[in-house]
Amino acid sequence: MKKNASLKKLHTFGLEVQAADYISVAHETELRKILPLPKNHLILGGGSNMLFTKDFEGLVIHNKIKGIEVVEENEEQVLVRVGGGEIWHELVLWAIEQNYAGLENLSLIPGSVGAAPIQNIGAYGAELKDVFDRLEAMNLETGVIETFGFEDCGFAYRESIFKGTLKGKYFITRVLLRLSKQATFNISYGAIQKVLEDTQSPLSIRSISNAVIQIRTQKLPDPKEIGNSGSFFKNPIVEIAVAKALQEKYPSIPVYPVNNDFNKLAAGWLIDQLGWKGYRKGDAGVHQHQALVLVNHGNATGEEIWALAKEIQASVQKEFGILLEPEVNIIA
Ligand code: EPU
Repeated sequence: MKKNASLKKLHTFGLEVQAADYISVAHETELRKILPLPKNHLILGGGSNMLFTKDFEGLVIHNKIKGIEVVEENEEQVLVRVGGGEIWHELVLWAIEQNYAGLENLSLIPGSVGAAPIQNIGAYGAELKDVFDRLEAMNLETGVIETFGFEDCGFAYRESIFKGTLKGKYFITRVLLRLSKQATFNISYGAIQKVLEDTQSPLSIRSISNAVIQIRTQKLPDPKEIGNSGSFFKNPIVEIAVAKALQEKYPSIPVYPVNNDFNKLAAGWLIDQLGWKGYRKGDAGVHQHQALVLVNHGNATGEEIWALAKEIQASVQKEFGILLEPEVNIIA
C-alpha cells in the first residue's frame, strides 16, 4: 500500500495526479485480503480510458493479475483464460504467434485485458464480444469469484453491465476468449483492404494485424509520446429520422446502420466540421489527424482537458443538435 502515489505513469493522459492510497494486486488471494474496500475506490487497468479531473482521494487498486493459458482445445478452437492484468496488445501478439485468430483486428488497442469487456472494446469491424466466452470477477462485497457468461454481460456498443448497474461492484480477475484455429478473415473495414492491397500482403491474421497497426499509428497519437485516451466521445446513436434530416442538410455526413430504428453518426466528423481538429489551448488540444481524440501536449491539467471537452460538446450540440457522450471515464 502506497500513500500519495503518482498516477502520471499509470494512465495514458499522462496527467500529474495522485491517489491518496494505492495498491497493486497480482493474484485473487491478494485482492480478497484487502476487502472490504473503502467506498471511494477505483480499479485501474492500463489507465487508457480515464480522465482524472483532480487528485483521487480514495484507494486505487491496480489489476496486475497475469497469466495466459489454454484451458480447452479442439480441432477448430481454443479457449484461452487470461489474467485481467495482462496488457491487451501483448495478448493479441501472443495469439498471432500461436496462429489463433480472432484478435487481429483489435491490435494495438491500449489497455488491459480486464478492462476490455467493461466497454466492449472495438475497432476495425470487430468487438471484444465477438470472441468473448465468459469472465471471472470477484464480488467485492463477498469476496466470491463469480462467472459471467455472454448474456450476463449486456454487451452493446462500448457498453456492458460493468459500466452500468454493476459499476464498481466487481473486479474482473480473468477473461476467457474463444479463438479460432481456422481463420475467417474480417476485412470489412475498407481501410484494412486498402493497406493490404497497397502493401501487396497475402491475407493472414498477421497481415491484418500489421495493417491495423499501420492505420492506428497514422491516425492515433501514441500515448507514450502524447497523452491521450483514444476516442474521447462515443459515436452517437440516433433515430433514423434524425440521421436523414442531417443528411439533407449535410450530404457528406457519414451515417452507419445499427438496426431498423437507429443509425450511428461519426462523432469525429461532427467535431471536425466545426474546425476543432488541431485546436490547442495551453497544453490541452484536439489531435491533428483525428478530431475525436483529445490530447495532453505536456502539462495540461485534467480540468483543462475536461473544459475543452465540454466546449466541443456544446458546439456540436449547437450546430447539429446532438449531445456527445464521453467514452472515457471522467473521474471527478
Ligand atoms: N472523421 C472525420 N474527421 C475526423 C475523424 C473522423 O471526418 O477528424 C470521419 C472519418 O473520415 C470517417 C468517420 O469520421 O468517415 C469515422 O472515423 P474513423 O473511421 O477514424 O473512426 P471513428 O468512428 O472516429 C471508431 C472508434 C475507434 C476505432 C475506429 C476504427 C469509437 C468512439 N471510436 O472511431 O476506437 O479505432 O472507429 O474502428 O467508436 C477508441 O474507442 O478509443 C477508439 C480509438
